[in-house]
Amino acid sequence: MSNPEIESVLTEQRTFAPSSEFSAAARIGSMDDYRALYRRSVEEPDAFWAEMAEQLHWFKKWDRVLDWEPPFARWFSGGEINISTNCIDRHLDSWRKNKAAIIWEGEPGEERVIRYQDLHREVCKFANVLKGLGVEKGDRVALYMPMIPELPIAMLACARIGAIHSVVFGGFSAEALKDRINDAQARLVVTADGGYRRGNIVPLKDNVDAAVEGTPTVKNVVVYKRTAHDIKMKEGRDHWWHDLIEGASAECEAARLDPEHPLFILYTSGTTGKPKGVVHSTGGYLLGVHLTSQWVFDLKEDDTYWCTADIGWVTGHSYILYGILSNGATTLMYEGAPNHPQPDRFWEIIEKYRVTIFYTAPTAIRAFIKWGDQWPKGRDLSSLRLIGTVGEPINPEVWVWYSRTIGKDRCPIVDTWWQTETGAILISPLPGATPTKPGSCTLPLPGIVPDVVDKNGESVDDNQGGFLVIRRPWPSMLRTVYGDPERYKQQYWSQVPGVYFAGDGARRDSDGYFWVMGRVDDVINVAGHRLGTMEVESALVSHPYVAEAAVVGKPDDLKGQAIYAFVSLESSHEPSDALMDELKAHVVKEIGAIARPDFIRFTQELPKTRSGKIMRRLLRDIAAGSHTVGDTTTLENFAVLTQLMEEEE
Ligand code: WTA
Repeated sequence: MSNPEIESVLTEQRTFAPSSEFSAAARIGSMDDYRALYRRSVEEPDAFWAEMAEQLHWFKKWDRVLDWEPPFARWFSGGEINISTNCIDRHLDSWRKNKAAIIWEGEPGEERVIRYQDLHREVCKFANVLKGLGVEKGDRVALYMPMIPELPIAMLACARIGAIHSVVFGGFSAEALKDRINDAQARLVVTADGGYRRGNIVPLKDNVDAAVEGTPTVKNVVVYKRTAHDIKMKEGRDHWWHDLIEGASAECEAARLDPEHPLFILYTSGTTGKPKGVVHSTGGYLLGVHLTSQWVFDLKEDDTYWCTADIGWVTGHSYILYGILSNGATTLMYEGAPNHPQPDRFWEIIEKYRVTIFYTAPTAIRAFIKWGDQWPKGRDLSSLRLIGTVGEPINPEVWVWYSRTIGKDRCPIVDTWWQTETGAILISPLPGATPTKPGSCTLPLPGIVPDVVDKNGESVDDNQGGFLVIRRPWPSMLRTVYGDPERYKQQYWSQVPGVYFAGDGARRDSDGYFWVMGRVDDVINVAGHRLGTMEVESALVSHPYVAEAAVVGKPDDLKGQAIYAFVSLESSHEPSDALMDELKAHVVKEIGAIARPDFIRFTQELPKTRSGKIMRRLLRDIAAGSHTVGDTTTLENFAVLTQLMEEEE
């Protein structure tokens, strides 16, 4: 970590207040209500969290709200709780027993509706299957599945018996799967023969076969039949899901777990080194996702809520599954790609199921823009009442497009800042209260105390860039890095002394709004000025011909770093020298001469991780002219990289 002074040059002035109609019906309907709740949460945190925790089902109440031995937290000591009870059983005593818990659509077009009652039966059966295979409380189970209902069923079944799930995104390779299984020492893998993606079959079982060659702890593999294509089944090790389920009892008592019992491990890439196994708890995690689902998504009984993330990422864990079902809401799950068979698949789904809340990522929104407005315009999106985004800073121009074209200038946008490590959303507008500013995730949620600091932990002034930190522990925070508490301390609690270091650069404006500028390593230093790459990208993307841009620093003798921009154009425009000059001038106009790109490189596509984040680290290597690049195991579109490297030579 070097010089913390991050120069912030993005000056977005527009604000959008929620409509009085939305506010009137919202759970939190005014800034006064938000401020009162926030004030209480920070003045009397223990009393606040205790009161909130009353919303959950506990077998036994806690003795103490928080034991804090920095950086290790224990929440709700002495209590007993189970997440599957909270997400399923407690809804069975009411009319919700026949409410849709999960509405699922497969990529080829099949539909399934799973009521809370059905979910209870399926989860209990699979929990009994797990027990039958010798899985015990505390054992790790790797789930490598397509986006089908059996994935949440398997997760909830693990939670029911206190096994710890480690979901590995179905887009990861056999090699990546093997590493994750070995790090967690998982004893069972649950998978499917395959899944559908853009009309093709993803060969999940073949990948599992290759991975478990090198995983001595795995004794059994359970295989759900999804695609019914030919696969190999190894006698004694591999079992069909449907065979095991047959005859399994539909009753399985939920384990009474310590609130600190780990619920799951989820691997996330660090800036360097191997992926970290982020460990989340049971009680605190559930409280975090439960409350934020209410506050941020304003969940109502009759909502049809759709989060487009894959369950292989934390967004799917928290906001397709746990937070949504614990509130007794209906969650929609779609298996496949957004542009299959056509670029309007998402809009078709919204139209068909009358989706009311839609939560997606900036990378997806940029793709929608690139594909053209005719696709959303051709579908009826009038059921939507709230739209959200997560995963990256959203460029103001993209925000405005989203608001206009999808939200029809009627739906509030919640730009939600959080991380795998934070478990739940920490900074976000409350849709019925907070006036939004495009590009800002706005204000902290109750109980969360963020700050922007320099490397000594001193708060910086308004509108000064610095490091985003969280000053107090919160219930859904990660508890450790699996098997490596030292790395947990070092990575998150030592870089800035005594506080949680998020790894993001940010500034706070004079209204107290947070503007996240991207990872701290996405910061470039030009002639002594540090710039968030996202700010230069926003300027580029605000040019009508630009679809996507990624900006990195290129070592430069004179300036320290030069600005190198990778730009992909809207399909109707061609690269040219004239356009290159025009784009440079455009950035100068938007931000100032200091941000003028030294190099612009046109490319069809940008290299991305499988979760859609631009891999700036690789682009930095390319910009620097190196012929080898670092770790590419999380890269989605390898061909782009090869092409960029070849052209560089
Ligand atoms: C970035 C995803 C700006 C940020 C839930 C963070 C964001 C990282 C936002 C975590 C947002 C996420 N505005 N940046 N609304 N949301 N980020 O672990 O850099 O996949 O540190 O968790 O994404 O990504 P992760």
